[in-house]
Amino acid sequence: MAKVADKYFETHPWKIIERGFNPSYSRVSEAIFALSNESLGLRGYFDEDEEGLDSLRGSYINGVYEYEDLQNSYKGIINRRHFMIPTVDWLKTKIKVDGKRLNLAINKFENFTRILDMEAGTLERSFVWRTKTGKALKITFLRFLDMLHPERAYQRLTLEALNFSGEIELETGLSFHLEHEMKEENFWNPVRRSTGDNSCAIQCRTTYSGQEVFAAAQVSVSVPVTTQGMEHGRLVKLGVSLPVDQGKPIEIDKSVVVLFDETERDELWLSGQKLFEKAQAVSLGEALAAQRKYWKEHWSTSDIQIMSADDSVRECVEQEQQGIRFCIFQMAQTYRGGHEKHNIGAKGLTGEAYNGHAFWDTEACCLPFYLFTNPIAAKSLLMFRYNTLGQAKKRSRMLDCEGACYPVATLNGEEACNLWQHASLQPQPSTAVAYGIWHYVHLTGDVDFLWEYGAEMLIEISRYLKSRANQNPKTKKYGYYGVMGPDEFKLMVNNNAYTNYMGMRSLQYAVEALAMMQREKPARYEDLTIKTELTPEEIAVWQEYADNMYIPRTEEGLIEQNDGFFELPHTDINAIHMSEFPLYSNWSYDRIYRTDMIKQPDVLMLLYLYNSTFSLEEKRVNYEYYEPRTIHESSLSPSIHSVLACELSKMDEAVKFFGYATRLDLDNYNRNTREGLHTTSIAMAWINIVYGFGGLRSDGDVLAFAPRMPERWGEVKFSLTYKERLIGVSIQKDKTKFSLRYGDPLDLQIYGNPYVLNKKGIEVATSQ
Ligand code: BGC
Repeated sequence: MAKVADKYFETHPWKIIERGFNPSYSRVSEAIFALSNESLGLRGYFDEDEEGLDSLRGSYINGVYEYEDLQNSYKGIINRRHFMIPTVDWLKTKIKVDGKRLNLAINKFENFTRILDMEAGTLERSFVWRTKTGKALKITFLRFLDMLHPERAYQRLTLEALNFSGEIELETGLSFHLEHEMKEENFWNPVRRSTGDNSCAIQCRTTYSGQEVFAAAQVSVSVPVTTQGMEHGRLVKLGVSLPVDQGKPIEIDKSVVVLFDETERDELWLSGQKLFEKAQAVSLGEALAAQRKYWKEHWSTSDIQIMSADDSVRECVEQEQQGIRFCIFQMAQTYRGGHEKHNIGAKGLTGEAYNGHAFWDTEACCLPFYLFTNPIAAKSLLMFRYNTLGQAKKRSRMLDCEGACYPVATLNGEEACNLWQHASLQPQPSTAVAYGIWHYVHLTGDVDFLWEYGAEMLIEISRYLKSRANQNPKTKKYGYYGVMGPDEFKLMVNNNAYTNYMGMRSLQYAVEALAMMQREKPARYEDLTIKTELTPEEIAVWQEYADNMYIPRTEEGLIEQNDGFFELPHTDINAIHMSEFPLYSNWSYDRIYRTDMIKQPDVLMLLYLYNSTFSLEEKRVNYEYYEPRTIHESSLSPSIHSVLACELSKMDEAVKFFGYATRLDLDNYNRNTREGLHTTSIAMAWINIVYGFGGLRSDGDVLAFAPRMPERWGEVKFSLTYKERLIGVSIQKDKTKFSLRYGDPLDLQIYGNPYVLNKKGIEVATSQ
């Protein structure tokens, strides 16, 4: 954990501020300043041309991808892979003064600031351009992606001539010229274009996946001008000559619609035009006011506030405050439950790394954040899995199994991971989906979801889990052989405890849920058994597998991560030098696999997910054994350790692991933020505070809390949306208060004791 902060941005409670431009940090800034509204995603790249700067012009659309075919004839290994591609660059702007183009790579400029405002969901960049002819032009770009209308995006350009009056030439347009950086290829082919009075539109189609995207822009200028439309290949644009008077700023507002859906070519153009007409009725100013309102409402139920204990730690705590708000902002803008065909890529929509793919991270790491801040979004994420059940069933056949095997990495439900040792050996996406269904139903009480969608997924997952399991010929116990658990440093192991345990719990849950459905919804149950050809005998077999699943445990409660783990040679992880990280680049793959070094929590993940099932002593024994062997090569890892360390009263360790959770990307701890944000790890920062220091446990019969505060905090406050209620929690050094901001009274458990939370609230002494 010897990772160090690379501090670059100013600390502010609600803003991320870059003052002065550092070209060598440009890609990190682009990731940090990324905007999204779930449908559209945009790195913080410059609006104007930036030839010569190190930049990744990433403008993405959730669900838009391209295919590549892979040569391979081994069954079970994929031979077609999809990956997210850059789409329309709707910011495209060219500014010319005295015939020379603005480009910060070569121009002289001063007073550069870039500000992400998390209360407004906007990004603003301003600077003064000093031209070779001695002119000073103040340029401000503002952009935002409409949170309420996922197809709408806005850019405002403000120009203020500081020491001259004259003409400025401007071109602004929509361009499908962006190349996929890793493939060095542009995948777009023009289908249709148009330009009109102050507006332009274009539709393009991808080469292999055949997806089409429509984009249109309207430009309005605060002084009278005439625009000239231009069309060429993958580009449409409007040119205008702007008369500027010294000291009088002019504004150029660009309202954009970007639409992707599965409809046919002409239909998409028509529906795009209709949405564009509607968007044109709203001014940028009105859209901005609505955007602020949206974020205000969001923060009123989802904020986490951290106050410092005293002045000596104020700076550090202010950084944590900014950090956690950044994490919450990213989670809320990346996904809000707008579309059941969207998921959350490991890097959200902030870069090409990980290809935009969603992993088991969605259910294992992100779901709790949405369950307690936006349950509609949580349901929508599970609906993605329901809508892609067909692909998961196909995948299972490819692996010679039955039922549904959910993909390790995906954008559209198909498996897109071409590393066979992951794609073929990791059942955790499927068990994570089963866990997600259980957690969602458990926390929302939405049993209709279970009847309509969840039960069918559970049936197919159980079929997969049953067919993927084997029986030990001697002990007659069931288990998973030739698997890779969450610890990806153990390849092809037998009886990975996490996999066996999760398999067991998934099967058990399926059996219980179906029995409940048969009792409570017999007609629907009947339909489902016909649809899925389910028999009572099949359910009985699942029960038998669950009852006889092998979970290796010593008398002290130490769970062996997999068969033979305790006999593995030891690696002293503290002896590995910083320069050897990331290990996957510096150690050969097979060298990584040979010892007891662990990539990320495996047994400990289990203790975190099914927390209330394990005793404190079991947690202690396992934590003390596995923590010193864990290298945290995955950024999902430290927060899980922090949560368990809090529970075990190991506060120094809890704080140490928390250290970089909230500022993982803001301080570029892993030195790879330039590739994109660690979006799914960002969710772990929220978990670290709420489940760690708040001590929340959501897997028991009632919500349980056991708050513990880091020394440097004076108070931490957060809210939880739970079954039509809003619960407020305020933890201070000496006391913790729970309030019911709305909704009916609720049973809670606090430090193991039962309470009823009503309008009067609850106050308890905070455990030291
Ligand atoms: C982790 C996986 C995770 C993936 C995407 C890997 O490094 O080991 O558990 O699903 O990253 O975040």
